[in-house]
Amino acid sequence: MSEISFRPLTPITGAEVEGVDLAAALKPDVVADLREALLRYKVLVFREQPMNDAQHVALTDALGGATAAHPIVNGLREEPAVLRTALSEDRPGLAQSAGGLGLPLDGTAPRRLRTEWHIDSTFVANPTSITILRGVEIPPTGGDTLFANLEALYAGLSPSLRGYLDTLQAIHSRNNPARTPRFDGKPGGPFVALHPLVRVHPETGVRSLFVSAVFLQAIRGLKPRESTALLDFLLDELAGRDEIHARVRWEQDTLVMWDNRAVAHAGPVDGLMFDEERIVHRTTVVGDLPSGPDGFVSRSLKGDLFEALV
Ligand SMILES: [Fe+2]
Repeated sequence: MSEISFRPLTPITGAEVEGVDLAAALKPDVVADLREALLRYKVLVFREQPMNDAQHVALTDALGGATAAHPIVNGLREEPAVLRTALSEDRPGLAQSAGGLGLPLDGTAPRRLRTEWHIDSTFVANPTSITILRGVEIPPTGGDTLFANLEALYAGLSPSLRGYLDTLQAIHSRNNPARTPRFDGKPGGPFVALHPLVRVHPETGVRSLFVSAVFLQAIRGLKPRESTALLDFLLDELAGRDEIHARVRWEQDTLVMWDNRAVAHAGPVDGLMFDEERIVHRTTVVGDLPSGPDGFVSRSLKGDLFEALV
């Protein structure tokens, strides 16, 4: 056993982790401990982890293999696995975009939490398994990230409804193709994927509700009004059940990794409510094809799988 210790953030989701230097080459027992902890806590928060982008990618490779930064958006020229997000670049468009924060504070904003929750890259057939996000420039306050435990979300529904959801699939898509060609020459969208609505975790076998407010378009086989009504209910549960949420406050050199197969996330929760810059760097670990309780396996309807960089 390594010397890592875990302090839970909430009874069921997230933990602060101490006793590991993530910039160093990780020994196999440390990697095994971290992967096991990810299955248990789903969100791991590490403080004071200064590192460069190459070390961030090395950590990602150790945990299972880095993908390119994003299926559509190019990463850094010198580290193509790293996606840089600067809030100052996003702010002008945020208030207008469908997934935007919807501020200013004049009371006309939509219910933001309902529209921001997502699981990374579910528009590809094999969404990334782990996301690793690093605070590079962090404001003194603001910019927190929210997480929701999708296994608890599923478990909290009635057995009758769970049984019905187990049989369904949903269409996830992202149709705005890349503005600039991908470094690797592959097509940058559009992407459409068909996923089970309930996902069986490939390592633990635990079921979770595989719902996203951003990329999930419709439930297959239902009439449009039925699909909308059911998704509205499920997304209200996702956004409204405080007991399944964990909120992470960022600091400079905070690193957060999460199991993208078991949690959804939303954030930065208040990106238009402060003026300071906020820069985060992200990498992702390659994922497998999700499968449902009935054996349904995700498939691509449009676009390639999202493979590991080699
Ligand atoms: Fe995300």
